Amino acid sequence: MSNNSEIEVFCPGTIANVSCGFDVMGLALDGIGDRMLIRKSNQKGISITKIEGQNLPLETQKNVAGVAGLKLLEHLNSDQGFEIEIYKNIKAGSGIGSSAASSAGAVWGINFLLGEPLSRKELIEFAMEGERLASGVAHADNVAPALLGGFTLVRSYEPLDVISLPHPSELYATVIHPQIEVKTADSRRILKQNITMKQAITQWGNVGGLVAGLFTEDYDLISRSLEDVIVEPIRSILIPEFDRIKSSSKEVGALGCGISGSGPSVFALSKGEATAKAVAEQMKNIYIPLGIDFEIHISKINTEGVKQL
Ligand code: HSE
Repeated sequence: MSNNSEIEVFCPGTIANVSCGFDVMGLALDGIGDRMLIRKSNQKGISITKIEGQNLPLETQKNVAGVAGLKLLEHLNSDQGFEIEIYKNIKAGSGIGSSAASSAGAVWGINFLLGEPLSRKELIEFAMEGERLASGVAHADNVAPALLGGFTLVRSYEPLDVISLPHPSELYATVIHPQIEVKTADSRRILKQNITMKQAITQWGNVGGLVAGLFTEDYDLISRSLEDVIVEPIRSILIPEFDRIKSSSKEVGALGCGISGSGPSVFALSKGEATAKAVAEQMKNIYIPLGIDFEIHISKINTEGVKQL
């Protein structure tokens, strides 16, 4: 729905890092996402008038959508005011890009209502301001796929250089979201600031392999490249039964399995929906006896990114 003064927006969930690509790789999910209503208002600035589904601050300066939107208005030198309603389906602290969905949705919707002065790619740096508020670091590996769809690579942060990558059409993601909250800021704090040359060599080999595998639609190469020797060994201790989820997903054919963003969600990529469903069953069977609530999503890769509803 849209006219010149109001738009309804779907903001997809995203998987950042995709194992080997900490802060640089990301992909957008289909079917998992938030809804936002953005409308022009006579009052300058941005008012968050409603949030449903999550207990998040309405105060503009404390809300990722508010902060990202204000940065965009400031850049455009626009006096136009906006009201935003946010309907959250993606829980904060889930690892599937909750703050990115709100930030990307806000800047995309505002840009649309202003007659699209900026391209989707140009909007990334403003959505990143929402991430800065949420986690202390303006990382782009969730907001880039949320805005552009598909797989994205942040080739460089300074200057920002984001590349859209192709992917084979039969690629599916299975995501288990244990209902415990892991704040991105906390799970970044526990990371080591230095890595060994050996770790770096393994990691950049895998990032290159993943990118090549996506381009050449080589599922085996994608599978071999979905390994993370730097971040996963540290963060996986926060996720109950991570190792079992990973090994049993691969047993039933997943190409790879890792932490979604900063966790606690865990994702697996598979060739074909049948395998993605078998992976979901494995995940379920491991989690039910634990007594921890969880949600499981099976999703194709979303090729559109944020869109008008
Ligand atoms: N790259 C970020 C991190 C993604 O892993 O901290 C957070 O969703």
